[in-house]
This record gives sequence, structure tokens and C-alpha cells, in this order.
Amino acid sequence: MNVLLTGGAGFIGSHTAIILSERGHDIVVLDNFSNSKPSVIQRIERITGRSCPCEEADLTDAEAVDAVFRRWKFDAVIHFAGFKAVGESVEKPLEYYENNLIGTLKLMEAMTNHDVGDIIFSSSATVYRGDSPAPYYEDYPLGASNPYGWTKVMIERMLRDVCAADSRWAAVLLRYFNPIGAHPSGLLGEDPNGIPNNLLPYVAKVAVGELPVVRIFGDDYDTPDGTGVRDYIHVMDLARGHLLALDYIRTRRGCFSFNLGTGKGYSVKEVVAAFERACGKPLPSRIDPRRAGDLPEIYANVDLARKELGFSAEFGLSEMCADAWNWQRRSSSASEGL
Ligand code: NAD
Ligand code: UD1
Repeated sequence: MNVLLTGGAGFIGSHTAIILSERGHDIVVLDNFSNSKPSVIQRIERITGRSCPCEEADLTDAEAVDAVFRRWKFDAVIHFAGFKAVGESVEKPLEYYENNLIGTLKLMEAMTNHDVGDIIFSSSATVYRGDSPAPYYEDYPLGASNPYGWTKVMIERMLRDVCAADSRWAAVLLRYFNPIGAHPSGLLGEDPNGIPNNLLPYVAKVAVGELPVVRIFGDDYDTPDGTGVRDYIHVMDLARGHLLALDYIRTRRGCFSFNLGTGKGYSVKEVVAAFERACGKPLPSRIDPRRAGDLPEIYANVDLARKELGFSAEFGLSEMCADAWNWQRRSSSASEGL
């Protein structure tokens, strides 16, 4: 298939690009590099040994997006592009609504104009309202507690409405839990700007000495060791989920949502211990107060993805940490060498 990957230079998009290209799909990346680097494209090409055409364009620019659809013929779109930092979305809500919602709207208009109806969307576990007990099922009530989360809820709604109105559309909403890890080559991984908000990249930076101490946000939750529990999934497993979703919508019309996680929860302390084993040394840590807005326990029920997509995660926490460490170590020593 000819597949457009919006945001394909980002963390999840680049790993998905590799899997798709290795399985013989022809891909085109559209990215404005607002949160990624053009060098990622060369790395994708180096890993796959195939060319990865890239269109530098902003999804909110309707003309530029239309031009991409005029230049290439697509069978399907995987839509990763968007801003994703929860805290920043609270400070700059309009930027998030503009980039995520208007960007998606322009993309869907171009798809309509060029007769492309198949889309896979990067949704998130953040679309669940958060007051239901874990594990999270796809039919749990939706809602959000920040503008980033609302953009995901609203985009899901837009896609659902279009699929209901026009039988040429098919959408798969993939609700990612906590993607971590990196490509096993160590050439690609998560590269957040500034101080990371998420646990894994923070721990990785402590391991290479770029940050002094792991801050554990609360050890008085009602969980086995008192720290927050999440469903971490290896980014290569997540990438494979997109391949299965592409196969799934080829023969179906309508809108379908699936959780992508492992179905297992790990606590902050368990993650830190797994990372210590991966990097072979103890990491300094301290207990800080709870982070505002955090929930004690979030993990997926993955039965639907298993039954419908044939998806199940292959990698466990030790592989996730080993690959994240390999990437962090290589990228830190590369930047020291510059
Ligand atoms: P990322 O920031 O690494 O990748 C997003 C890419 O989109 C970047 O390369 C960025 O430059 C590009 N982009 C942003 N706005 C754009 C625009 N207007 N036009 C063109 N390109 C644009 O993020 P990621 O971690 O790879 O996440 C991908 C998607 O998955 C996002 O939609 C995110 O909200 C969603 N998601 C991520 C996580 C996570 O933990 N990483 C969890 C759940 C959902
Ligand atoms: C966060 C986002 C969520 C997004 C997800 C993507 C918030 C509130 N939520 O979820 O919308 O979909 O990332 O992966 O930002 N922790 C520490 N110390 C740290 C960082 C985190 O103890 O330095 C703890 C947190 O309290 C939590 C766990 O580690 O219990 C995971 O945190 P994080 O990686 O930020 O992910 P989420 O909060 O699940």
C-alpha cells in the first residue's frame, strides 16, 4: 500500500515507518519538524535500506497539504502529527486546539478531495475519563482533564462522525497507553526537547548523568508499592499494531477503537528497578509529592485488539528498558562527541 505518515519523523511515527517499509509498503512522511529532526529520515533509510520520501509541510496549511496529495497517490493515512505535552497544553490551549484540531481538519479535507478514506489515528489512553477502575475497556466513558486530552477526544468524535456520514471512510482509533523503548539498533528513539515530563526518558537521563535524581511522584497511592501503575508498551510493538490496523480497515468501513498496551501494569519503582538492571548501576531516586492530576493505576484491557487485530505485545519491561538505555547511551555519547 501507499501510506502517508503525518508526523512520521516523530518518536512513534519513525518506528512505524520502519516496520511498514520493511513489510513492503511504500511510505511518504509529512512533517514540519516542530518536534523532530530531518536526520531521522536518513536514519529510517539506513535501517530499512529503502528510500523514505519526506514532505516538509505543516498540516494546518491547507494549500501545502493539498499539494502533497496532488504529488502522491495514497491508499491510507496514519495520522501521528500533533502536539502532545499535557502541561504545555494547559498553558497554551489555543496552540493545541489550532495545531491538533485544525491540522486534522485540513488533513481530512485533503483526504476527501483526493478520495482517500482510510485513516489510522494516534489516540491515547488519556481519552478515558479516568474515574473508572483499571483495566480500561474501549467502551469506558470518555472525557479529559486538559486541552491535549480534549483534542484527542474531539478528533475521535470528528472521525466517528465522518465515518457515520460517508460510507467511503474507515477509521481506526488506536488508544496508546505508555509507549517507551527504542529501535533495537540504537539509531532511533525518543528525543524530547528540554527536561522530560514522562518517566522513562527522565530515568534514562539520570542514568547518563544529565539529570541528578529520579523523582518518584508519590508513594502513598493505593497500589502494591504505593507508586503509580501504568501500562508501558514497547514502541516497536506499538508500531506493529499500526501494520495490523492497516490490514484491518482495508476490508471494512466504519470507525473502530482499540487499546494498544500490554495489559500489564508496572509501578514507578518497578520501572526504575528494571532500568537499573538494564544500565547495570543503581540510580539515585527520591520520593516527591504526587503530581497534580495523576491517577493511581492505568492499564489496558487488550482483549479487543487481540481478537480483532490479532495484536499482542511481544516485548516486556526488561526489553523496553534495555532498548531505551541503548538509545540514550548512544545518543548522549554522540552529542558529547560533536
Ligand atoms: P512526536 O512529537 O515525537 O511526533 C509528532 C510529530 O508530528 C513530530 O515529528 C512533529 O514535528 C510533527 N508535527 C506536529 N505538528 C505538526 C503539524 N502541524 N504539521 C506537521 N507535522 C507536525 O510525538 P509521538 O510521541 O511520536 O506521538 C505521536 C502521536 O501519538 C501524537 O499524536 C501523540 O499525541 C500520540 N500519543 C503519543 C503518546 C506518547 O506517549 N508518545 C501517547 C499517546 C498518544
Ligand atoms: C502522561 C500524560 C498522558 C500521556 C502519556 C503518554 C500527564 C498527566 N499524562 O501519562 O496524557 O498520554 O504521558 O505516555 O502528563 N512519574 C514519576 N516521576 C517522573 C515522571 C513520572 O514518578 O519524573 C510517574 C507518574 O506519576 C506516573 C508514571 O510515572 O505514575 C508515568 O508517568 P508519565 O510517564 O508522565 O505518563 P502518564 O502520567 O501515564
